[in-house]
Amino acid sequence: MSRTLDPEFRRALTARIRYYNEMGIYDFYRRPLSVRGGEIAAAIAVDDAPIAGSTTQSESRPVAIPGDENIFDLIALKPEQRVSDPAQALKIIREDLGDCTRCVLHKQGRKQIVFGVGNAKADLMFVGEGPGADEDAQGEPFVGRAGQLLNNMIKAMGITREQVYIANIVKCRPPGNRTPEREECATCSPFLMRQIAVVKPKVIVALGAVAAKTLLAMNASMAQLRGRFYDFRPAGVRSSDLNWDGCKLAVTYHPAFLLRDPRQKGEAWKDLQMVMGELGLKAPTKSSD
Ligand code: URA
Repeated sequence: MSRTLDPEFRRALTARIRYYNEMGIYDFYRRPLSVRGGEIAAAIAVDDAPIAGSTTQSESRPVAIPGDENIFDLIALKPEQRVSDPAQALKIIREDLGDCTRCVLHKQGRKQIVFGVGNAKADLMFVGEGPGADEDAQGEPFVGRAGQLLNNMIKAMGITREQVYIANIVKCRPPGNRTPEREECATCSPFLMRQIAVVKPKVIVALGAVAAKTLLAMNASMAQLRGRFYDFRPAGVRSSDLNWDGCKLAVTYHPAFLLRDPRQKGEAWKDLQMVMGELGLKAPTKSSD
C-alpha cells in the first residue's frame, strides 16, 4: 500500500540518496524489515557507508521507511536526470547503453545500435518493434519502406518527422527480421522507458503488436488493443519533471503490416485521427500539401 511519507523524513531520505547518486550509485534495493499494523516496513539497503558530515550513529544505519511503492522511483536519480536539456539527457542514455552486449542480438549480425531519432521535446512519439536491414545500415529507425509509409502517416497528421520522436522496443536488428524474443524486449526496453521519461510525450503511438504488448505489459490481439487510449507511465523510471505524470498511449498497425495489407490503412487512419484529436492536430487541406 502506498503512503505519504513524513516531509522531514522524505527530505532526509532524498538528501541521502542524492549523496549516493553523487558517488555514482543509482541502484538501491529494499528489504522487508518487519510487519507493522499489517504493513511491511522496508529498509533502504545502502548499508552502513559513512555519510559526510553525519554525527549520529543512527544516520549511517539502514533506514526503516513505511511501505511506499514509489519512493525510489521518485527520488533515485538516473544519470540523465541531472541535466535539464532533454537532448543532452538522451545522449547520456545513449552513452549508458554503450556498445551494448546485454542480449544475444549483439552477436547475431547487428551492424549498429539504432537508438532513436527526432525531437527530444516531442509531444508525439512512435514506437516500433526493432530495426530492419535499412535501419541497421543507417543507424536510424524507420528509414526503409515501412519508414516511408510512417513518414506519410505523420505528414497526413499535419506534422513532420522532425517534430516527433521515433524509437523501437529493441535497438538491434533481429536476424532475418524475426520478431524479437520476449527476453530481448525485456532487456532493451528499460532504455526506451528512460527515453520516454526524458522526452515526456503527450501521446505514444505503439506501432504493431510487439510494441503494444511490451509497452502495455499485456497480451491481447490487435483488435482488442486498438481503438482506445491507455494511461501510460514508463515502467521503472520517473521523469525528472514531477509535473509529468505519464501520457496517453494508442495502438495502431505497424506500417510494414499496412504495406502487406493496404486495406487496413483506413483503420490505421482512424487510430491516428484519435491521436490528432488528443493533440489538437488538423489534417492538412489539399492546398496546404
Ligand atoms: N520496423 C520497425 O519496427 N522499426 C524500424 O525501425 C523499422 C522497421
